[in-house]
Amino acid sequence: MPQNDRSPTMPAFRRPAAAARAVPADAIALAALGTPNMPHIERPSTARGGSGWIGGSTGCRKSTLFTYFQVQSIAYEYAHVPPGARRSWVLFDLKGDGCEPLLGGLARIPGALENTYYLDPFARNGAPGQFPLNLMRADTAGLPTDLLAVQFAHLIGHVSGAGVLAMPLGGRQMERISSTAHAAWETPGSSPIWIVDALSNPAAMDRLAARCPNERARRFLQAVRLPPDAMAATWTRVKSVLSPYAEVENMFGASSSLDWSRLTAPGVTTIVRMGDPPGGSLELVEFFASLLVRQCFSNLLASRQSPWPGHATTIAIDECQLAAVGLQDVLRRLVETGRSRNLQILLISQGTRALRDASGALFESLLTNSRYAITGRLASADAALYVREALGPAVAQSTASRITSELISLPPGEFYFSEANGLPTRFRAVDADREGWARALRANATAIEAMKRRLCPRPLPPAVHLEDAPEVAPAVRAADDPVPATPQRRRPRSRLG
Ligand SMILES: Nc1ncnc2c1ncn2[C@@H]1O[C@H](COP(=O)(O)OP(=O)(O)OP(=O)(O)O)[C@@H](O)[C@H]1O
Ligand SMILES: [Mg+2]
Repeated sequence: MPQNDRSPTMPAFRRPAAAARAVPADAIALAALGTPNMPHIERPSTARGGSGWIGGSTGCRKSTLFTYFQVQSIAYEYAHVPPGARRSWVLFDLKGDGCEPLLGGLARIPGALENTYYLDPFARNGAPGQFPLNLMRADTAGLPTDLLAVQFAHLIGHVSGAGVLAMPLGGRQMERISSTAHAAWETPGSSPIWIVDALSNPAAMDRLAARCPNERARRFLQAVRLPPDAMAATWTRVKSVLSPYAEVENMFGASSSLDWSRLTAPGVTTIVRMGDPPGGSLELVEFFASLLVRQCFSNLLASRQSPWPGHATTIAIDECQLAAVGLQDVLRRLVETGRSRNLQILLISQGTRALRDASGALFESLLTNSRYAITGRLASADAALYVREALGPAVAQSTASRITSELISLPPGEFYFSEANGLPTRFRAVDADREGWARALRANATAIEAMKRRLCPRPLPPAVHLEDAPEVAPAVRAADDPVPATPQRRRPRSRLG
């Protein structure tokens, strides 16, 4: 058994000889050898890959198939594409079980691990994955701060109004959150933690107002008043999202924020793992997924004109149904407009109805605009919906019924593949080298641990709270913003003045 699976002599990319005959040279075969019509996906760096969707009930091996495709694609890039032109990948793993196999696969590709970043917003007790996320110091991609504040308030309102955090917020409470967030965005040296601080009591709110140099934001902040009980409830909800425990608070209170241009540079793979939210709260998964996918996408949009001649980027979201409500608008835009900017979105979800229920428009857009769809075993209602919506009335009733009943009883590892609304073909997935990935994971444990800490080698220091922050003289505030510069920080101005 090889002691080190990252031996440079190991070929970075292998395709079975028979598969190479059956699929185009720049494509990744998905099916086991001998499958008629050999389903495959174009290797996306040369072709504008187009978006795709992989669906199926739990355990049907969709994540394994996706990881295989991703590892094969990255291996091909490293073996055949010049460094500056390589595709970048951002994988959001909302359940967290796909990261380790992928890391094992990456460890076998010479050079890939050195260009991988690992983020885990729920990393605790010294585990790797923390990262700075001070939204007030992030590149806002040209979005006005008042708009960002409203989006932010809605996201908090949404996630804190469902599930275990259930307590719907009223309109006045949402205004209170967005006005506080807007003032925080306009105040030098602030962080999202100052929103929590300001909402905790009226004196703290006055302290934020006194520091805010934007007159309109300040006046709005002072105009919106809530009764004490509503104020306390608002503070509790915001705190439960922005500061559920010290590590998350420290990420929001950091002195910088993620630099998405670095995380999506050519050849870079960024893995965002969200497997262990505090108390199993899926609302926090949805919150962080929405926040980070939004940031990633708006930075990519802002930095790429259309058509974009540069390197391609794939954003993949495994278990995307967990964040589909909060993300529906941004996912639709990605599916519908990403192509001309060489952005590809791959969505992996359990079933079809969860996506349709989260957003009918997103579901329809996926079926209409996806380059391909891969479906494993589905529950009967999911299968009926898929066949009715994806195949449409053009397919004979008998064919539709046959495919529906086969979809319901597909064994693990078997899928249907359809491309651009064509009739789906059934196939057995290629046997991914899961043993090899697991071996490489063990053999490269030290390098992988170091990679996971690259973005944040030491635990982040405690966040600075509003009451502890040094005073800034008003004259300095108004004339010249002394905020330490995040590299590409633009000064977004509020549309209100
Ligand atoms: N060829 C295989 N033989 C045996 N087990 C496999 C094979 N491929 C995958 N598995 C295992 O089957 C399990 C389910 O696979 P996978 O996680 O890919 O399913 P999934 O469809 O993504 O499920 P979920 O929706 O729950 O995430 C995993 O433990 C995986 O390691
Ligand atoms: Mg999975």
